[in-house]
Amino acid sequence: MSEGATAAHDVLLVGGGAAGLRAAIAIAETNPSLSVAVVSKVYPMRSHTVSAEGGAAGAIAEGDTLDEHAYDTISGSDWLCDQDAVEAFVQEAPRELLQLEHWGCPWSREPDGRIAVRAFGGMKNMRTWFAADKTGFHMLHSLFQTSLKYTDITRYDEWFVTRLLVDDGRVHGVVAIELMSGRIEVITAKSVVLCNGGSGKVFPFTTNANICTGDGMALAYRAGAPLKDMEFVQYHPTGLPFTGILITEATRAEGGWLLNKDGYRYLQDYDLGKPEPTPVLRSMELGPRDRLSQAFVHEVEKGRTIESPYGPIVHLDLRHLGAKLIDTKLPMVRELCMQYERIDPVTELIPVRPVVHYMMGGVHTDINGATPIDGLFAAGETACVTINGANRLGSNSLPECLVFGARAGRAAAEYATSAKQPSPAVMRQADDEVRRLEQMRSPDRGHEQIADIREEMQSTMEDSAGIFRSGDSLAKGVDQLAELQQRLDRIQLYDQTSAFNTELVAALELANMLDIAETILHSAVQREESRGAHQRTDFTTRDDTRFLNHALAYRDSDGSVRIERLPVTITRWPPGERVYGR
Ligand code: FUM
Repeated sequence: MSEGATAAHDVLLVGGGAAGLRAAIAIAETNPSLSVAVVSKVYPMRSHTVSAEGGAAGAIAEGDTLDEHAYDTISGSDWLCDQDAVEAFVQEAPRELLQLEHWGCPWSREPDGRIAVRAFGGMKNMRTWFAADKTGFHMLHSLFQTSLKYTDITRYDEWFVTRLLVDDGRVHGVVAIELMSGRIEVITAKSVVLCNGGSGKVFPFTTNANICTGDGMALAYRAGAPLKDMEFVQYHPTGLPFTGILITEATRAEGGWLLNKDGYRYLQDYDLGKPEPTPVLRSMELGPRDRLSQAFVHEVEKGRTIESPYGPIVHLDLRHLGAKLIDTKLPMVRELCMQYERIDPVTELIPVRPVVHYMMGGVHTDINGATPIDGLFAAGETACVTINGANRLGSNSLPECLVFGARAGRAAAEYATSAKQPSPAVMRQADDEVRRLEQMRSPDRGHEQIADIREEMQSTMEDSAGIFRSGDSLAKGVDQLAELQQRLDRIQLYDQTSAFNTELVAALELANMLDIAETILHSAVQREESRGAHQRTDFTTRDDTRFLNHALAYRDSDGSVRIERLPVTITRWPPGERVYGR
């Protein structure tokens, strides 16, 4: 291994979803002479972006304004986002979405040919662009096919990055396993962009694909970059009970109702407005996700939910929308319900419950995706810029991937253009990494099983840091995770083959998830207030005096988590009350 790198590129992207591909295109456009590597543990079209359904926000409709999009995002975030980032975001989002149109994205249209926009939760105006309810699929296709025309983009499909090579405060490349052969390789680069998604699999019940194991966040964290605002975990109010498959918020934008066991639209009891004949923006089912998920828990406490084999549920009622609308605007919802629940939403109620959907937190970056490590950037759900603060609004995530993927790509290209060649000193780190990976596969490490530890981690997270948390539940969770970290060292791997060793990958993913889980709990312990998706039963109100700031989680040399605080950037919107339904 110490003889030299396998491959060398100028810029290396870890992840091939919307943020990664948008970054790759931005790099190729910024400096066509740069060589770009896209390293992804799955084939890019299998990235989790593909499963995004409802749409992407960008103010273009008549009467809508950039300031209103900014205000909705800021109030939705419970004032924890950085307002300079939000201002850049709302300004660039429409441009990015239009660019995607030119790259082939088949946005749904009004009858007169204009781009159609729909309502979305917590938004004052209709501004969510959509491609029926397969928006992520179409966006990813458009980005992927566009990326193919740049010959200097080299893809490493099905390569798993296990370590960032960092020396003297600067990134120099990665160590990665080629999954098909099992070979461990070094790929050097002058700059690296982490854009490999979120970490929903830290929890037991999630809309996230199995690949969402926080790999990018864990790589950055171990290399010394802080993770920001990890305590903020978004539950989406409507997932299918058994699989966790997302039933898009677009169902409610199109007029769907949430009903409790008595057939009652219970959201009217939670300061979210009153039922009206047609959907009202920022009201009832179009309230923000944090409030809707919290209302569900209160319904459970009142005994007004329905028992199912997978826990309490409520019903999503689309029957009054009719087959024509459902087939035109929500065709995938109908397909999913029929295939996974054996019900037809045209005539039957859909069972749903809140499900972990998105991490507001991630790798701490500035407005151009730069992390505190020179040459290391991050974008998409992996990153925390932050435009989402304590609660992301639905449909802000896809344009975030585009806006900040492009920004990070341009910044990484500029960095690589003037940076020196990677240092050969990092080859020693690569040797260490090879030894670590070999040791993981050695016999007689112990008798722990990956699945046992993973399940215990997931139930610990749900019990200690679910929709409502307390100091006691979090402290208990911290102790349980510390024990699981010790057991991780005693995992026995049985598969000694090289090609597609999924057991080894699962062990590496579990190690990543445990680190992420620890940062979530430690950040949550120290935030003694309730804000957005972080609701503490022992500190029930927002406390701007102590906590109008971000939490930065650092990994100390002994593996423990250290939290520091960073002020929130306020530009034009001072903290206020979040008002919905009025
Ligand atoms: O419900 C949805 O379609 C999800 C959208 C999002 O998370 O942005």
